[in-house]
Amino acid sequence: MKTARNLDHLPPYLFAQIDAKRDALRAQGVEIISLGIGDPDLPTPPHIVEAMAEAIRNPDNHRYPDYAGSLAFRTAACDWMRQRFGVELDARREALALIGSKEGIAHIHTAFVNPGDYVLAPSIGYPVYSGGATLMHAHSHFLPMSAQNGWLASFDEVPAEVLSRARILFLGYPNNPTGAVATPEYFDQAIAFCHANDLLLVHDNAYSEISFDGYRAPSILERPGAREVAVEMFSLSKSYNMTGWRIGFAVGNETAIQALGTVKNNLDSGQFTAIQDAAIAALSGPQDCIAKMSALYQRRRDLVIDALWAIGLSCEPPKATIYVWARVPDGYSSVEFTEKLLSEAHVVVTPGSGYGPDGEGYIRISLTTPDEQLLEAVRRIKESLHG
Ligand code: MLT
Repeated sequence: MKTARNLDHLPPYLFAQIDAKRDALRAQGVEIISLGIGDPDLPTPPHIVEAMAEAIRNPDNHRYPDYAGSLAFRTAACDWMRQRFGVELDARREALALIGSKEGIAHIHTAFVNPGDYVLAPSIGYPVYSGGATLMHAHSHFLPMSAQNGWLASFDEVPAEVLSRARILFLGYPNNPTGAVATPEYFDQAIAFCHANDLLLVHDNAYSEISFDGYRAPSILERPGAREVAVEMFSLSKSYNMTGWRIGFAVGNETAIQALGTVKNNLDSGQFTAIQDAAIAALSGPQDCIAKMSALYQRRRDLVIDALWAIGLSCEPPKATIYVWARVPDGYSSVEFTEKLLSEAHVVVTPGSGYGPDGEGYIRISLTTPDEQLLEAVRRIKESLHG
């Protein structure tokens, strides 16, 4: 049986690959500590679980969901955008429920990219930006990123022949995996670049709520001119410990929202309305869980950064996200060091190169593991490095 040619060009999903290696070792009885995927260890806050318990008993919710998401959910998302960022949106025209932001990021390609086109993706970024292009028989052009430029993807030197066939610019700040944050000036430059080159700007804002040291992440939609070129993808996964629920939303440019909605209503039938009801409780209920979570991750960040410096792995404290981005020791590639840690320390981390070419030389450590396991992981890493 022949599968489609574009599957031959699609690498296995980074975390599916890592999970397979982890599970193989676990099956041999090895006790693994996973600092790989960003999957919060704490449960979803109780008021959200309670809302779900009630919503699941409502027979109206047992029928097909609204394709675009229930109006109540889209309204809650827009109210949250107003309260959190001061951004006014029309729930009927400028908002769409997603089955997690990953789904929206993957499907936006279908709405905007033709075979042979390009997407502009950060050279270190969420793998779905380029994976979605491959699935459309399109190409990814990677925008250089480096520690020197604060991990801000540079769109200054895109070759003219790429730019003429480019359809989407993907950005995501606070950034997965580097933890970098963007300045308002950087967002303004990106918006101007998209205006000048007729590009859709897709801003992945999945980590907006997890921030440290007093930093508050913005929405790109706060910036002037954004609404004409940009959509922003939000996820409830990290903000409300809801990775398993698969719920998020897209907001912003009406043409892009409607086009994504058309793709989705042909491909899926929306997210279970009871989950949308629970998400309404998350977005419109008490928000103190977010501050508590950020405080927890900040403590873990400091704990891990101190421990990594103590064993000679250099890293900077991120202002946001649930990740620490650290240099691998001299003499190792990202994958070699990741494999050493898995086989000798029984610790899973993510190789930086899995996020794109400029990620080589780095690993990503997820902070979604209890403190004692984080410290035990660093102790094991030290032992495997220094004996
Ligand atoms: C991550 O760890 O980068 C994400 O949680 C993975 C994902 O969303 O697939």
